[in-house]
Amino acid sequence: MRHFEQPQRQRDEAVRSATFGAAAIIYAARSLGLGSTQMIGFDDIAVHREYGLAEDEVPVMLLTVGPERQGNWPQKPRLPVADVLDFA
Ligand SMILES: Cc1cc2nc3c(=O)[nH]c(=O)nc-3n(C[C@H](O)[C@H](O)[C@H](O)COP(=O)(O)O)c2cc1C
Repeated sequence: MRHFEQPQRQRDEAVRSATFGAAAIIYAARSLGLGSTQMIGFDDIAVHREYGLAEDEVPVMLLTVGPERQGNWPQKPRLPVADVLDFA
């Protein structure tokens, strides 16, 4: 079956593509000294309506960008890079 006939695969691709885009914004923001917070816990139907999105457009995430406040909670734990990435 061709790609355009598979709505779930189209949606998966949209989510992945948007995630790459968001990552680029997050890194660019960091390079400017700004923090960011991605959120997927939002009313996607309301966002779709509010922004007048087309039938084939998907609101993937909300991404806030701005100066970090003093007293922000510490970053959540991360696995060491060497545990999750191999350089060949
Ligand atoms: C895919 C994804 C979705 C998230 N959705 C939410 C959300 O809906 N609401 C929320 O308060 N935080 C959400 N978070 C967590 C915040 O973005 C979090 O504060 C941010 O990732 C900073 O995390 P850190 O402390 O690990 O750096 C989400 C994180 C990820 C990776």
